[in-house]
Amino acid sequence: MIVKKKSAESYTVMNELVLPNDTNTLGNLMGGRLMYWMDICAGMAAQKHCNRIVVTASVDNVSFKQPIKLGDSVMIEGKVTRAFNTSVEVRLDVWAQNLPAGTKIKSNEAYFTFVALESNGQPVPVPELVPESEKEVALYDGALRRRQLRLILGGKMEPADAHELKALFMASQED
Ligand SMILES: CC(C)(COP(=O)(O)OP(=O)(O)OC[C@H]1O[C@@H](n2cnc3c(N)ncnc32)[C@H](O)[C@@H]1OP(=O)(O)O)[C@@H](O)C(=O)NCCC(=O)NCCS
Repeated sequence: MIVKKKSAESYTVMNELVLPNDTNTLGNLMGGRLMYWMDICAGMAAQKHCNRIVVTASVDNVSFKQPIKLGDSVMIEGKVTRAFNTSVEVRLDVWAQNLPAGTKIKSNEAYFTFVALESNGQPVPVPELVPESEKEVALYDGALRRRQLRLILGGKMEPADAHELKALFMASQED
């Protein structure tokens, strides 16, 4: 069994065209529809890394910076940034493209956490992720702090145990 994998091995890209049934009454893509597509893209990236059935455990804060319009193409790129024991963090970058105009703008970024499951529904260990580029190392390092924050918010960790997250705040106070 392969126990170490690269981030690139989970790279997933998904394209969708915004059609009338995807929009609100202003003709903008509905946030819930975008989240649905993001969950699918992130889930595929997590499955590529884990080679297991995965379930969404949590989604970090997502803000929609600007509307995506009817007729735009949405491109979602996802890859695993870090693997823990039975869970992985997936980063998504979402772009809105106006294909006739040839424009492309960043819509948002998000982090999803997936847990790999055995056929009996029990969490199962996942392969380790080895970051390669400088950017991958930065995402890998940050993943530990993001994990601590989401576990505190999810009621799964005591704030006092989030040492790396606390160190970040202490460092910024010293600046
Ligand atoms: C996700 C789920 C499997 C976790 O089960 P659990 O009993 O809490 O399991 P554990 O406490 O053993 O945790 C398993 C992993 O989940 C992670 N986890 C649990 N809750 C989490 C949360 N809110 N955010 C991020 N990770 C979380 C743990 O950190 C652990 O990861 P690790 O092994 O890498 O450290 C379970 O809550 C579940 O099945 N949820 C429903 C998933 C689902 O149906 N998603 C679709 C939404 S409808």
